[in-house]
Amino acid sequence: MTGSRSSWSGQAAFVLAAAASAVGLGNLWRFPYLAAKYGGGVFIAVYLLLSLTLGVTLLVTEIALGRYARQSQLTAFRALGHPCWGFLGVMATVVPLFILPYYNVIGGWVVRYFVAYAKLLLGCSAELGDPQVLFSSFIAAPWDPFVCMAVFTVASLAVIAVGVKNGIEKANLIMMPVLLLMAFGLAVYVALLPGAGEGIRYYLVPDFSSCGNVGKVVLGAMGQMFYSLSLAMGIMITYGSYMRRCDSVPKASVRIVAADTLVAVLSGFMVIPVLVMFASVGGDGTRQAIDAGPGLMFVTLPKVFTSLGAVGAWVGFVFFVLVLFAALTSAISMSEACVAAVCDFFNVRRTTSVMVIGAWTLVVGSLSAFGYGRWSGFKPFGLPALEFFDSAMNVLTPIVAALICVFVGWVLRPRRILAECQRGGERVCFKTFYVIMVKFVAPLLVGAILVSEICRAFGIGGWSI
Ligand code: PFF
Repeated sequence: MTGSRSSWSGQAAFVLAAAASAVGLGNLWRFPYLAAKYGGGVFIAVYLLLSLTLGVTLLVTEIALGRYARQSQLTAFRALGHPCWGFLGVMATVVPLFILPYYNVIGGWVVRYFVAYAKLLLGCSAELGDPQVLFSSFIAAPWDPFVCMAVFTVASLAVIAVGVKNGIEKANLIMMPVLLLMAFGLAVYVALLPGAGEGIRYYLVPDFSSCGNVGKVVLGAMGQMFYSLSLAMGIMITYGSYMRRCDSVPKASVRIVAADTLVAVLSGFMVIPVLVMFASVGGDGTRQAIDAGPGLMFVTLPKVFTSLGAVGAWVGFVFFVLVLFAALTSAISMSEACVAAVCDFFNVRRTTSVMVIGAWTLVVGSLSAFGYGRWSGFKPFGLPALEFFDSAMNVLTPIVAALICVFVGWVLRPRRILAECQRGGERVCFKTFYVIMVKFVAPLLVGAILVSEICRAFGIGGWSI
């Protein structure tokens, strides 16, 4: 890369950036959905336990790898003196390269809803009268999904183009506090609504009868943790490569997990009680309302907001600003992993790399953007393009994660990661725990997710969640 490597201005800036990457659509929609599906408190307890053990282990591993190599994921494994593991760098780059385009398509959907609520507040449109009609007609429209994706893509790449300190850090400094404030505000508002108590009980009280078997809860929690912490996507390696040597990797990792989990748990307080209330008012079963999948965010929740009357327009607007910021900060991190890989590999300027990744995102993203409309005939393996890419990446991600564990545990050796953690005089007191986790426990658990994802991709029951 031309010039010396960028770096974060400090530990706080790094934690904020990594937390901003972690907090995204996964926290706001997927965590509450899974918690409601898998026995409320049971799922939350399993998730907390896994995040604090496996999650922290994997985060420490990726961040320390990046800082040690001072390279993004594509070239990090070679730079550490293991050229035959260069293929892992390629795989770890393929993941964000293929997730980014369809993540931006969903980001475009969020842009569309943000505009719809803004228009509603200004009194110039009533298109949210029936959110189901809005959603179905929007995703099938000839150009709208592509245009919205392009707007979202340009916004995130504009931040990247400015650089690590002036772009990513500053954008996070504005968006993250606003996001947290809005999440707290909405959670308090919902908790004060009449009848919210029943929903909060549904969310928090462990329900062993509805959570299914233990294996499914653990797999569900683990898969969610991976996605939520942006693991195995090259992002934490790239962000780690900008970290100062004097900062503490373990402390930063624990803080990132704490921030991510806090927003996920808060989202449950926003989403579950309104769904339970709506289910009783609308006559739908609670489970049916919660099981709506992605429709939950774009159809069911807007329906609930509409049912709240005039105040619902404001609630909806605030909610979609929150979702937009969460999605943008996550997309920024994914774009940075791709942009940094191109810079490191081809030794080109950041702006050139941003343009290459922008073009890639628009071209590959168009398959998903048009996949429910003008190109709906294009169905790889019988799936709409967006769902196909999502399923393929759900299989590739655990493969990359397992290989990273094998690489660190058995090839590079855990002591090199521990030594990286000890730089700057840090005392590391979890050495034995770390070695056992990275050599044995993590590859096994990650292997279980892989089997479950393969079963899901091929529609084999039992294991899939
Ligand atoms: N961690 C993000 C979330 O929970 O929504 C998702 C995400 C971020 C996925 C960054 C991929 C990514 F590269």
